[in-house]
Amino acid sequence: MASKSLSRRDFLKLAGIGAGTVALSACGVIQSTPSAPQPAVAVSTPTLPPTPGSPSLNVDLTAARTTVPILPGAETPVWRYQATVREGATEALQVLEKSYLGPIFRVKRGDRIQVKLKNELPDPTIIHWHGLRIPEAMDGHPRYAIQPGETFDYDFTVRNRAGTYWFHPHPHQLTGPQAYFGLAGLFIVSDDEETALGLPSGEYDLPLVIQDRLFDATNRLVYMTNMMDQMTGFVGDTILVNGQPNARLDVKASAYRLRLLNGSNSRIYKLAWEDGSPLTVIATDGGLLEAPVTREYLMLAPGERAELWVDFSALKSRKLVSLGFDAGTSGGMGGGMMGGGGGGSLLPNGAPLEIISFQVGEAGATVSPLPKQLSRMERHRLEDAVNKDNPRSFILAMQGMVHTINGRVFEMDSVASDEIVRLGDLEVWEFFNNEGGGGGMGMGMMNMQMPHPMHMHGVQFQVLKRQLESNRGQYDQVSAGFVDYGWKDTVLVMPGERVRVLVRFEDFAGTYLYHCHNLEHEDAGMMRNYRVDG
Ligand code: C2O
Ligand code: CU
Ligand code: CU
Repeated sequence: MASKSLSRRDFLKLAGIGAGTVALSACGVIQSTPSAPQPAVAVSTPTLPPTPGSPSLNVDLTAARTTVPILPGAETPVWRYQATVREGATEALQVLEKSYLGPIFRVKRGDRIQVKLKNELPDPTIIHWHGLRIPEAMDGHPRYAIQPGETFDYDFTVRNRAGTYWFHPHPHQLTGPQAYFGLAGLFIVSDDEETALGLPSGEYDLPLVIQDRLFDATNRLVYMTNMMDQMTGFVGDTILVNGQPNARLDVKASAYRLRLLNGSNSRIYKLAWEDGSPLTVIATDGGLLEAPVTREYLMLAPGERAELWVDFSALKSRKLVSLGFDAGTSGGMGGGMMGGGGGGSLLPNGAPLEIISFQVGEAGATVSPLPKQLSRMERHRLEDAVNKDNPRSFILAMQGMVHTINGRVFEMDSVASDEIVRLGDLEVWEFFNNEGGGGGMGMGMMNMQMPHPMHMHGVQFQVLKRQLESNRGQYDQVSAGFVDYGWKDTVLVMPGERVRVLVRFEDFAGTYLYHCHNLEHEDAGMMRNYRVDG
C-alpha cells in the first residue's frame, strides 16, 4: 500500500480557528517536571449551576452511510457522523475532511449543548458522550437506542473541566461494529483555568485519534473474522490516525499540544518517541494534570485519552511509535492457534507499530515554557469514602467463552444489589482482573490473560492504588506507562492486578453503565448497569 501523507492543511482544517498562539514571552529552556504526585489536599468540589435559557450550541447530527478515500483505489464504505450548526458559532464544530471521523466539538465548560441525532443507518443506534457528567437520559444507555429514521434530542450542560472527551455509539451489542465502521468524534472542552495557561493552541493544538482497521482487497473494512475475535477483541493491521493510514504530518518548529484518543476497538498502545526521548504528558481522560509528568512510554488503552506537549523546534522529524508488549491474547494456548490474537490481522495486540511521523519545517510560534503547574485538582481522600475499609469489588474473569464482571454479563434492565450507590457518596471501587495466574479460566485451553480497560459512565474518578497479585512478567512490560495522577474515566487493569479508584457520584441520580472498553468484550456482555439513588 502506498504511503499517504496527511497534508498540514487537513490537520489545520481540523485544528481550525484562530491561528494565533496566545501571547508568548521570550523563549526559554523547556523543562518538564519529573513525575511527582502532589500531596493530597482536600478542596471542596465546586458545583456548576446549570445554564438556563438558550443553548450555546445547537447541532443537527446525522449518522449515515457514506464512502471516504482511505487507501489508494476504491473509496471505503463507512458510517459517519455529520453535523450542521443550527445555533451557535460554526467554529464550534471542526470537520476533518475526507475522514470518516465525526466533527470535533469545541465547547466551553458551562455551555448548554443541544444535539438532534438522526439515525440514517440500517440499525438502531444512540450516542454516548464518553467522559461527560450528564444526566442518565442524555448518556446514551442502549435503552435509549433509536430505530432507523428516528431522531433523539440531547440537551445538556457541560459540567466537565477542560479536557479531551469523545462520543461514539452505544446500542445493545452493536457498539463494536458501529464504532469500527467509523462512528466516533472528539468533544473538546476548554475552561478559563486552562486558557490562562497559554498552552499551544490554534494550529498548535492537534487532536490525533488512533485506530486500527483491517481492509479487504477492495478497500472495504473487514470486521470479526473468526470466533476468537470476540474473546480477544478485534484488531486490524493498518493503523490510522484521524482516519488516514501511514500518517505523516508537517509541523512547524514550535511547541505542540497533541490530544491523543485511543479510538480502537481493542488495541492497546504503548506509545513512545522512536528517538527514545521521554514523553511529556500534560493531561489524562478528565483533563490537565496538576503538573506535567514524563514517561519513557505511555500506555493508552481503548477509550483512554492523554495529551502530550512536545517541542519540535530543535528537531528535523520525530516519530510516534507503539512498542511491543505482551497483550495476553495468545494466553495459555501458545502461538499456534491464537497467535494472531485477532483473526485476519498480521499485527496482534501488543505488536510494535508506527503511529505517526512528524516532519518539522519552517519556524513557528515562539515556544513558551510549559508551566510547572497546570491545574488545581480537588483530590479525593480515602478517609472520606463511605466504604473506605470495604471497597466495592468487581472481579473480572473468563467464564465459559465470555469475560464477566462478578460472574455476570450485561442485562438491559437489571441492577444487582451490589451495584447501587447513593448520590453524593464518595466510594472506593476495586477492579480485580482475575484472569491472571491461571485464575478465571473457562475451558482448560482458553486461559486468556487479557488486560481490561474498565470504564465508568457519568463520572470522573481518581486512581487510588494498584496492586499486583500475579503475572509480574507481563505487568513489568507496561506498568511504567501508566499516568494515574489525574482525572480518569477509563483505567487499564492488567491480568493479576487490582486497581482501586475513588469515585464520587456527585452529579445525577440514575442508571449508568460500567464496562470494559474493549468493544468486543463490551458487546459480548462485559458490561453492567450501576444505579445512583438520589
Ligand atoms: Cu466510551 Cu460506554 O463507553
Ligand atoms: Cu463512556
Ligand atoms: Cu475486557
